[in-house]
Amino acid sequence: MLFFSLLYVFAQYTAIAAAINATSLSWYDPQLPGLNATLQEEVFARRSYFYVGGKYINGTTGSVITDQMYVEKLEPPVVLHAYPIVFITGGFQTATNWLNTPDDRAGWASYFLSQGYIVYLADHVKRGRSPWIVADSALLNTTATGLAFVQNYFIAGERTKLWPQAVLHTQWPGTAEVGDPTFDQFYASQIQTAPNDGPFSQTVVDAYSALLDKIGASVLVSHSQGGPYGWGIGDSRPELVKAIIALEPEGPPFENQVQRTGAARPYGITTAPITYSPAVNLTADANAFIKVRVNSTDPNLANCLMQAEPAKQLPNLQKFPILMYTTEASYHAFYDHCTYSYLVQAGVTPEWLQLKDIGIRGNAHFSFMEKNSMEIVPLLDMWIRATVE
Ligand SMILES: *[C@@H]1O[C@H](CO)[C@@H](O)[C@H](O)[C@H]1NC(C)=O
Ligand SMILES: *[C@@H]1O[C@H](CO)[C@@H](O)[C@H](O)[C@H]1NC(C)=O
Ligand SMILES: *[C@@H]1O[C@H](CO)[C@@H](O)[C@H](O)[C@H]1NC(C)=O
Ligand SMILES: *[C@@H]1O[C@H](CO)[C@@H](O)[C@H](O)[C@H]1NC(C)=O
Ligand SMILES: *[C@@H]1O[C@H](CO)[C@@H](O)[C@H](O)[C@H]1NC(C)=O
Ligand SMILES: *[C@@H]1O[C@H](CO)[C@@H](O)[C@H](O)[C@H]1NC(C)=O
Repeated sequence: MLFFSLLYVFAQYTAIAAAINATSLSWYDPQLPGLNATLQEEVFARRSYFYVGGKYINGTTGSVITDQMYVEKLEPPVVLHAYPIVFITGGFQTATNWLNTPDDRAGWASYFLSQGYIVYLADHVKRGRSPWIVADSALLNTTATGLAFVQNYFIAGERTKLWPQAVLHTQWPGTAEVGDPTFDQFYASQIQTAPNDGPFSQTVVDAYSALLDKIGASVLVSHSQGGPYGWGIGDSRPELVKAIIALEPEGPPFENQVQRTGAARPYGITTAPITYSPAVNLTADANAFIKVRVNSTDPNLANCLMQAEPAKQLPNLQKFPILMYTTEASYHAFYDHCTYSYLVQAGVTPEWLQLKDIGIRGNAHFSFMEKNSMEIVPLLDMWIRATVE
């Protein structure tokens, strides 16, 4: 395990605050020019599917293929954009997240289709329609989301108030109680998840890298657990990743904050190895990172683990634009500044869209399903048009 003597360097908080203010949102225009946010409820698309990745192994029933990933392609009648959107879901989720909302409104996939983007929806390796031969991967244990976890963290944080911003949550559609049809639909969609250890994370990254090899340059939209996968894909295929929009990427660096389950993401923003300069191989040198605790003066913001200076850099994540995104009331509102600052310290230049800064209030971690989901998604479209095209 990775335990270090932590230096408490208070002065670095000023550096973090300055970095946060560097995000100007110059692409943002409240008039939404050039966008047609009038979503057609019926979005007709050609649908096809295929599998990527995977390998043959000798299993208990003979030769079997394993670790292949299911991908669905949705293609609008008229394609208006050079680069498709690849959604990368979070923990316990499948690609149904993007199709429609639990209260049966159009989802973000429909929005992007209506604006002429090709959309790819994958179920991560060993999840959903990506088969999992349990007998042949006995060392992998599933974890499932209990009812209380889903309510406390995902959709009704205002009740248990496990982080300061939770009280601001207003946007979940419905009562978030068992028996409410919207809640039951959402909870029914939650699915067991393979443990997110380094080798398994790498398997998921490899499958998405195979997807980009097949479909070409793309814009990634990652959510939560999909965030570290997105960083890994960008690291392994920087020439094929045109941009990453990271919706509340799993964080903060090196530890879990709100859940307080201790050390996590040994490579800072990822669990699997990622390219640093100078290089880091924690198998060869468990002490490769010198970590520094940077305390916040704001009790509503977490203390962060950063690298001691000079910080090792993340060269491949500097090769394409990144938009980080945080809602007002999510548990990520407590610590996403740590992830943002960590990226900046490592030489990456993300922009950071905090919805509260432009007056979009009351959302939590599943904003793409919440009442105002269709007010939010044009912002991402706007950023893509301004930054990528
Ligand atoms: C960041 O911006 C806020 C609001 O404009 C301002 O109050 C604060 O002083 C700025 N912080 C730094 C370090 O520039
Ligand atoms: C948006 O699309 C709808 C349906 O195609 C059309 O009726 C409307 O005029 C469009 N609005 C703008 C501002 O282009
Ligand atoms: C499966 O086992 C056979 C016989 O031992 C071996 O020839 C083959 O290479 C193995 N295949 C894989 C994919 O490991
Ligand atoms: C899976 O669960 C079994 C039984 O509880 C345990 O012995 C094993 O160590 C677990 N494996 C992993 C990878 O966590
Ligand atoms: C990391 O170090 C281990 C142990 O020295 C070594 O086996 C492995 O090949 C190294 N990994 C890389 C990617 O160099
Ligand atoms: C920073 O915060 C930690 C708790 O996260 C605390 O133990 C430590 O004393 C604080 N350091 C300073 C310099 O305030």
